[in-house]
Amino acid sequence: MGGGKSTLKTIGVLTSGGDAPGMNAAIRAVVRQAAEMDIEVIGIARGFAGLIQGDFRRLHLGSVADIVHRGGTILLTARSEEFKTEAGRAMAVDNMRREGIEGLVVIGGDGSFRGALHLAKKGVPVVGVPGTIDNDLAGTDYSIGFDTAVNTAVEAINRIRDTATSHERVFIVEVMGRESGQIALMAGIAGGAESILIPEIKVDFAQVIERIERGRRRGKLHSIIVVAEGAASALDVSREINRITHLESRVTILGHIQRGGAPTAFDRILASRLGARAVQLLAAGETSCMVGMEANRIVHHDLEWALEQKKEIDLELYHLANVLAL
Ligand code: F6P
Repeated sequence: MGGGKSTLKTIGVLTSGGDAPGMNAAIRAVVRQAAEMDIEVIGIARGFAGLIQGDFRRLHLGSVADIVHRGGTILLTARSEEFKTEAGRAMAVDNMRREGIEGLVVIGGDGSFRGALHLAKKGVPVVGVPGTIDNDLAGTDYSIGFDTAVNTAVEAINRIRDTATSHERVFIVEVMGRESGQIALMAGIAGGAESILIPEIKVDFAQVIERIERGRRRGKLHSIIVVAEGAASALDVSREINRITHLESRVTILGHIQRGGAPTAFDRILASRLGARAVQLLAAGETSCMVGMEANRIVHHDLEWALEQKKEIDLELYHLANVLAL
């Protein structure tokens, strides 16, 4: 699917939900791809909240200069309670029509995609671009921001490993992911964790302790346990370890550090490909779909279908993590 002229005159773009590194690269791709097809782009501030308030700004080629490498989102983002109401959504649609916005690119996670689906059902042409560090959306191997978040977590684990070794301590590193263990699993493997606790798999505490003790028996000076916030509280894990083993443990909660920072090259390229394809799809008359990357190819899927699917954790990787921790 290439560029070329389109009958579409004006589209909107917004970022919604938790920000993710690479969202700016996606906005830039939307604007540049649209410019190539003679389509005007209106940037909507603060996601769906801005649609309701009519907080619109025209984006030119220059508006997206110098942002490909920046974390966060120049359009700002929010989680809008008002958009969950019928009145809020009706106002959003009215504002879009008044502004002449004929199609919308929604960059965000599952909550944002649900919002996009509501608009699609009201007849607004919508394409979703997956942007969330959680990587919990079906229909794409990766979402924008995940790779950066994993790399940030791994860098933190590397630093923690140094001090953990010096003091012969157990460290519990809590990463983001309320319902998804994707960050924990990847960061745990890349960071060489002994145990990885994720919400998708029941926490086996006896096994966590056994691994720590096994490591000590063979002369390991430290232990690193990576826990997804949705699997257990790192503080509870630490207390339990102190109680049972009498080893010294410490907790590091990475929190929003994982959401900020310059996107990796992978996220910039992914965002550029997905953003551009979203515009091409709108121009081709597609609606109510999401773009994704599967096996390194850019694909699109029906939005409602994608939201009904559950992205499963890769059990092969989970078992590999256990083997590597032996
Ligand atoms: O969905 C992205 C995410 O960073 C989750 O991993 C995390 O649980 C949540 O957002 C935190 O949300 P907030 O920034 O609103 O505290």
